[in-house]
Amino acid sequence: GQNADFDYEVVAKEGTTEFYEGTLTETYGYNGDLLGPTIRLKEGETVRVKVRNELDEPTTFHWHGLEVNGAADGGPHNPVSPGESQIVTLNVDQPAATLWYHPHPHGQTAEQVFKGLSGLLYVDGTEQKELGLPQRYGVDDIPLIFQDRMFDQNRQLNYDVLMNNDGTTGDVSLVNGTLDPELTVTQPQMRFRILNGSNARTYTFRLSNGASFTQIASDGGMLREPVDREELTLAASERAEILVDFSGTEAGEELALTDAEGTALLPFKLAFDKEEKQPDLKQGTAGQPFLTEEEKALPVSKRLELFGMMEMVTINGQKFDPDRIDLRQRKGVTEVWEVYNQPDMMGGMAHPFHIHGTQFKIISRDGKEPGPHEQGLKDSVQVEPGERVKLLVTFPETGIFMYHCHILEHEENGMMGQVEVY
Ligand code: C2O
Ligand code: CU
Ligand code: CU
Repeated sequence: GQNADFDYEVVAKEGTTEFYEGTLTETYGYNGDLLGPTIRLKEGETVRVKVRNELDEPTTFHWHGLEVNGAADGGPHNPVSPGESQIVTLNVDQPAATLWYHPHPHGQTAEQVFKGLSGLLYVDGTEQKELGLPQRYGVDDIPLIFQDRMFDQNRQLNYDVLMNNDGTTGDVSLVNGTLDPELTVTQPQMRFRILNGSNARTYTFRLSNGASFTQIASDGGMLREPVDREELTLAASERAEILVDFSGTEAGEELALTDAEGTALLPFKLAFDKEEKQPDLKQGTAGQPFLTEEEKALPVSKRLELFGMMEMVTINGQKFDPDRIDLRQRKGVTEVWEVYNQPDMMGGMAHPFHIHGTQFKIISRDGKEPGPHEQGLKDSVQVEPGERVKLLVTFPETGIFMYHCHILEHEENGMMGQVEVY
């Protein structure tokens, strides 16, 4: 309202959710029992968000992918105590994108996310309207949060029992917090904004009929050009936007979004009238190179080595120390970060590497230009064992920002560092 001293209120609270008929599972949610409302901010606007902690433990409110200053970022340095409220000012100065928000209190991030604290945060721009992309929320522009979960014998999310130090995984997939989801498709052209909100699991998505779909956006906004794909892999915390053309399918046809093994994660119920035309996918940047010659010529100035598994995870041989600044970088100055995933005797494992406060570009993977599906802004990048990934990193705001593995249990185990932007 006009007289309120904030534009949005986000309250972390306890609740219960009926995943299984007749059983209430204890969960956490923002403004409700599970997950949170989709927050929509406009490119260029400044909003005041009142955050409130109604949990019995400290939490933080992190805006994953939003390029805000360190004080507003909601990292482990910005705790909100039980019962406390704060007003956070978010300056939205980046292109349209599908971002998200989640807690980040050190030592409790993984458990709080596992219990249900996550929500989507969209940056809306004008560009998407002009492209004619589907944009009716819940009609042809659908948020899809995928999270794997496991319930104990009492059908509770007992984190202590289920916790795994390489990342808590589950035997069931929730879509938008629903255990047996189904999506009624009412329009022939659908846009899905997909978040892999799992603690650890990497998802590979396909259509059950093997048809291709069109990826239009990565973590931080539109791709340089739309890409036709038959599968989409998202590591923990990554997002993508895809367009699926249902116009060739018949009513009653069985169709689903599946994982790599063909297990249906999201069955579709087709119920549309076939009268819409296809969007015009010419994107503004398609003619331009992804990286300029100057950007390609920049030398590496920061090197990060990811190492280990379980409790033994480190970055550059060290575990997170909240009192240690690991890197410094000037605001607005672009640097090349080289992230190397050092294999161990067991071969090692992939780590989804995330940086706060920036949307970066992938310059290369083992010296090779990224595929067209990665030619867009990113804030998380999957780094395979033995792989060397170069990133073009600019921070538009000052403050202290985390970088870490987004397998949340690795992050808790200390696979995190901090960069001071000055
Ligand atoms: Cu999704 Cu450190 O954050
Ligand atoms: Cu983040
Ligand atoms: Cu990791």
